[in-house]
Amino acid sequence: MTENFSAPQLAHRWMEHNVRPGDLCVDATMGRGRDTARLCRLVGEEGRVLAMDIQPEALESTRKLLEEENTAGRARLILDGHQNIASYAEPGSVSCIAYNFGWLPGGDHDIFTRAETSVPALEASLALLKPGGIITLCVYYGRNNGYREKDAILDWLSGIDPDRYTAIVASFCNRRGEPPIPAIVYRV
Ligand SMILES: C[S@@+](CC[C@H](N)C(=O)[O-])C[C@H]1O[C@@H](n2cnc3c(N)ncnc32)[C@H](O)[C@@H]1O
Repeated sequence: MTENFSAPQLAHRWMEHNVRPGDLCVDATMGRGRDTARLCRLVGEEGRVLAMDIQPEALESTRKLLEEENTAGRARLILDGHQNIASYAEPGSVSCIAYNFGWLPGGDHDIFTRAETSVPALEASLALLKPGGIITLCVYYGRNNGYREKDAILDWLSGIDPDRYTAIVASFCNRRGEPPIPAIVYRV
């Protein structure tokens, strides 16, 4: 592990471990498309990735990245909030749903994910997972975001049904400041 090992890199390792060619995945916070691009590579030509964001700028950046990587045909880019995730996938159909909370990198720092929509989105995501499916989370907090969303997400994670899901929260315990929190939910 290198000095710069990040929460998204850890999430990508979880994705690599769980996503198979032909799978359906969702990037619930598309941003600049790095998670979408990773998922598109993992699902291969037969797979499909749904990517959601509320900012047109995110869709433009992601489309460009996927075109550069020649994987644009594997993705559907959706301008909608992830609280509506259940409108886009069937229950029990998704192998990985990625959440990277916070604001658009290089974008407006006052537009960021919020507890009011993040927690309902996570709750709706559980039903979409197929057996063995995962939700990956990178929880950024502090500065403009504050702590309310982080606290609500951690609270939600600790309350989900332990007979049906395993929730694991990791910690960069020797990092200074407020390092993002990587977490994963497995459907049994
Ligand atoms: C930290 S960024 C995501 C980074 C991204 N995964 C990447 O690879 O660049 C968080 C994104 O969530 C988006 N967002 C905020 N509220 C949202 C919502 N309700 N539904 C979907 N996306 C939302 C923001 O517009 C922002 O682009």
